[in-house]
Amino acid sequence: MGNESINWDKLGFDYIKTDKRFLQVWKNGEWQEGTLTDDNVLHISEGSTALHYGQQCFEGLKAYRCKDGSINLFRPDQNAARMQRSCARLLMPHVPTDVFIDACKQVVKANERFIPPYGSGGALYLRPFVIGTGDNIGVRTAPEFIFSVFAIPVGAYFKGGLVPHNFQISTFDRAAPQGTGAAKVGGNYAASLMPGSEAKKSGFADAIYLDPMTHSKIEEVGSANFFGITHDNQFITPKSPSVLPGITRLSLIELAQTRLGLDVVEGEVFIDKLDQFKEAGACGTAAVISPIGGIQYNGKLHVFHSETEVGPITQKLYKELTGVQTGDVEAPAGWIVKV
Ligand code: PLP
Ligand code: COI
Repeated sequence: MGNESINWDKLGFDYIKTDKRFLQVWKNGEWQEGTLTDDNVLHISEGSTALHYGQQCFEGLKAYRCKDGSINLFRPDQNAARMQRSCARLLMPHVPTDVFIDACKQVVKANERFIPPYGSGGALYLRPFVIGTGDNIGVRTAPEFIFSVFAIPVGAYFKGGLVPHNFQISTFDRAAPQGTGAAKVGGNYAASLMPGSEAKKSGFADAIYLDPMTHSKIEEVGSANFFGITHDNQFITPKSPSVLPGITRLSLIELAQTRLGLDVVEGEVFIDKLDQFKEAGACGTAAVISPIGGIQYNGKLHVFHSETEVGPITQKLYKELTGVQTGDVEAPAGWIVKV
């Protein structure tokens, strides 16, 4: 069956129920056999630790339709590894990399009619997650867990795709210095809901967080990592134990260095030194590369390249990254897994 009901050019980042999702239960100390199911509703105990104590984590990765009709998964091994680290931090059983990648492939194949066509700018977004379930009430790790992967066709996360957006520095923290910032766990996102909503109400695309220890350095956007391009062509991205180690960020570090010949620095981005940058952007699986027009801090908007035009280096990075993802540009070894 085709998918005439979807207008591929108008896709944003919204929930759409697709045909199948993968579901696997952990009980009696081990993972049971996983299956694909039509049912998008989970039936779990009211005592589930995921509901009370935030014992859960998730991932985000995309499947892309290529020009030749084949399907690319972008660096799923990296998502598997990050989910294993998140699970370890929250005392949840880890999902082996081969099981994770196989589940993603099964979900992509079973929802093939939802993959946006090549050239539409969209992709099939995969959302793997692990949650603590089973009867429980004390603050302890759950007796049972669920690993699931569902899929949604998506377009741009920030409206318009590759167009600059303004962001607002939040006075709140999303994570603590030695907390769970580096793990992809729901608690970080719960903490970001109010600041994110305040930023959007004030007309900004999202909040940017400063380091929770000194509030003097940029950490990341609520939904993506930060990078800046200095006047002498350095690609700088914050390094901090409370930043999520993004896979897009990791990929841009390599592409900036090997393909664009930029110097790469993982370091400190002081909020009072923004004029060192001629361009800046937010990068992530959902965000792809979203140029940052300006950053609002202490009542003042600091504009980088332009509030309306995309800087030339950001454009080149975008072309290289999306080219690799959709198979138009040769990928570094091991980055693409064919479905
Ligand atoms: N930081 C946060 C808070 C995110 O939610 C995301 C999105 O996943 C990222 C960074 C970027 O990570 P990735 O490039 O792996 O999607
Ligand atoms: C992603 O890019 O995969 C994210 O998780 C960001 C956001 C949707 C929370």
